[in-house]
Amino acid sequence: MSDTLDKWPEVLMNNYGTPPVELVSGSGATVIDGEGRHLIDMLAGIAVNALGHGHPAIVEAVSEQIRQLGHTSNLFAHSQVVTLASRLKELLGAGESTRVFFCNSGAEANEAAFKLSRLTGRSRILAAVNGFHGRTMGSLAMTGQADKRAAFEPMPAGVEFYEYGDIDGLRELVEQDPRNTASIILEPIQGETGVIPAPEGFLKAIRELCDEYGILMIVDEVQTGVGRTGDFFAHQHDGIIPDVVTMAKGLGGGLPIGACLATGKAAGLFAPGSHGTTFGGNPVACAAANAVLDVIDAEFCAEVIAKGQYFIDELEKLDTVEEVRGRGLMLGVVLKKPVAKQAVTEGFDHGLILNAPAEDIIRLTPPLVINEQEIEQALTGLRALITELSR
Ligand SMILES: Cc1ncc(COP(=O)(O)O)c(C=O)c1O
Repeated sequence: MSDTLDKWPEVLMNNYGTPPVELVSGSGATVIDGEGRHLIDMLAGIAVNALGHGHPAIVEAVSEQIRQLGHTSNLFAHSQVVTLASRLKELLGAGESTRVFFCNSGAEANEAAFKLSRLTGRSRILAAVNGFHGRTMGSLAMTGQADKRAAFEPMPAGVEFYEYGDIDGLRELVEQDPRNTASIILEPIQGETGVIPAPEGFLKAIRELCDEYGILMIVDEVQTGVGRTGDFFAHQHDGIIPDVVTMAKGLGGGLPIGACLATGKAAGLFAPGSHGTTFGGNPVACAAANAVLDVIDAEFCAEVIAKGQYFIDELEKLDTVEEVRGRGLMLGVVLKKPVAKQAVTEGFDHGLILNAPAEDIIRLTPPLVINEQEIEQALTGLRALITELSR
């Protein structure tokens, strides 16, 4: 075992357990571990490294920015944050009213959405069963997994849960107290639960329900955003525009940054003093995000869809695979046998970094820049691993 892995449990809190492997360096979708093994990174730091490891555009942007000006706080303006906000506003396509709040993680982006909800003057927030929105108290309160909340009760009040995909049940819940319902939050594809896409038409129906009762529709794009599913935002697939969008992960290409975008009335709810964070909109994190956005255009997104489709076609040929669900490069490989966790452990010996959100699901969220050779290597490893373990 390496010194790093040896020392980990002596100095770090035990909330993650001790990781199985130390990572040392990376390039593209390939990383090198502490034993010198080359691994295809089919997780990308949990859907973070959109441009892979060591992308020259990010390296240059970050190096240049930290040389020039590393941090300002929000007491001062700088051009990177204004450029980034303008670009996100444009990408959302919700018009002039859109405004952006920057923070440092997905949980914080959802925390901001929680606080915006409260500022509507209504207190109810409706969130999906089995959804995941983060680990801070507000984002945890909206996370529809009782086991994650239990030890930290009481949660901030006012959150009630609906079945993901059940529009009639959601309407019924809204209509119990529509005038006190501030917002409905959901992931367009539930990631942490096992890559479960919303049923066709669900987002559109929520949009209509929100319009009917003046409720904010919050779409959590923390995992699905920034081209991950083949659209810049996954909700664009459904042809709707939410009132609030939260994002993080892929946005900084590896640097910590989150954002909460709001449009219409929601965009004006924060006033000076309502909310803030010292590092939010930090110039270096914004420079990285601007470099990511330079790369992720329509052509790039089309390639993400094509790469994802290739993984789906190839993996669905295996008779040990039930189905491959998801879109773009956010895929859940549903196995016929519950061997996904074992696949993660044994994946390293097949040259793969994998992730299993459930016993029968392997989640694939590789860097969006994964190249043909890396895709073939990943598929060779996956075929061997899944076949061997399913015997
Ligand atoms: C959909 C979604 N929302 C929020 C979060 C929380 O983000 P973070 O871990 O950056 O706080 C995650 C993290 O996995 C996520 O997948």
